[in-house]
Amino acid sequence: MKVHVANHPLITHKLTVLRDEKTDSPTFRHLVEELVTLLAYEATRDVRTEKVSIKTPVTTTTGLKLSDPRPVVVPILRAGLGMLEGMTRLIPTAEVGFLGMVRDEKTLKASTYANRLPENLSGRQCFVLDPMLATGGTLVAAINFLIERGADDITAICILSAPEGIKVLEDAFANSGVPITLVTGALDEKLNEHGYIVPGLGDAGDRLYGVV
Ligand code: URA
Repeated sequence: MKVHVANHPLITHKLTVLRDEKTDSPTFRHLVEELVTLLAYEATRDVRTEKVSIKTPVTTTTGLKLSDPRPVVVPILRAGLGMLEGMTRLIPTAEVGFLGMVRDEKTLKASTYANRLPENLSGRQCFVLDPMLATGGTLVAAINFLIERGADDITAICILSAPEGIKVLEDAFANSGVPITLVTGALDEKLNEHGYIVPGLGDAGDRLYGVV
């Protein structure tokens, strides 16, 4: 598995404001969108393209366009939804699927409660959006779901990651044969006894959308 931890002062600056408990939901949502657009720039480095011939006002030249089939962006509900706008701003022609996963707060195990995805994802590059890579359970379940449907290249974009979650992901897909990449804004210190990332930013879903 390839892991890319963003190392850019603008990203760290935005993350610092995001982490601050005094940051309100509208500002938090706005920052998450901006951060995802910055992370997506790195995450799409190997997006599939094909050559295309065009005519400028001056001459003809060869450029690149995104290949068909288009990439699929998969936000994991609910917190991943806050990352969707920032991602589609960069790839407006991507298809968007949805995956609803819940984590049992006692066992910390993830399960799927809803999905809206093509039955056949073979040949598709998938970008999974989940702000917090904590225990790794949700992301492993989501990636397995996509692999079972034929996805052959999967990139997870997470705002923050814990070392424990990265290890779980690495172990789970060491022999999968499907290239998996993680692009994350920061690698935090650890998980606490409640499965929260430390120093983290708290519950990403609650901070995006409030406690409902
Ligand atoms: N999910 C969150 O929203 N925050 C954490 O710290 C861990 C999991």
